[in-house]
Amino acid sequence: MNKEQLMESARKIKQAAYSPYSKFSVGAAILLKDGTVINGVNVENVSFGATNCAERTAFFTAVTNGYTKGDFKAISIAGDTEDYLPPCSICRQVMAEFCSPEMPVYLTNNKQEILELKLIDLLPYAFTELDM
Ligand code: THU
Repeated sequence: MNKEQLMESARKIKQAAYSPYSKFSVGAAILLKDGTVINGVNVENVSFGATNCAERTAFFTAVTNGYTKGDFKAISIAGDTEDYLPPCSICRQVMAEFCSPEMPVYLTNNKQEILELKLIDLLPYAFTELDM
């Protein structure tokens, strides 16, 4: 699966977002090293702090399905924004828990362009272990 296909998966799942408060729908698609794709959407709540981002929904679903550190190959994130939609900082920290700093993170904009970053570009000096 190439980055365009992974982004298409993120774009498609976006319509499943539950975002009645922000009206800001986000879709994510994680590619596992075994070729499986796992999707996630943002799920909002009237108590705003209970909201879960699309990226975390996808990671937590992957873990629920038996995947863990070392299993993740790439992630695509899709919204309807003019600029490339970046993951929030909590989602970056969740990515740092499970993914290599070199893992590709694909962002897109409403012109369907794809920006390829690495996790380390988004979260340098990540906090990843307790025994420092
Ligand atoms: N959101 C995501 O799902 N992922 C991002 O990368 C940025 C923000 C969601 C959270 C909330 O439901 C809405 O977008 C507005 O912040």
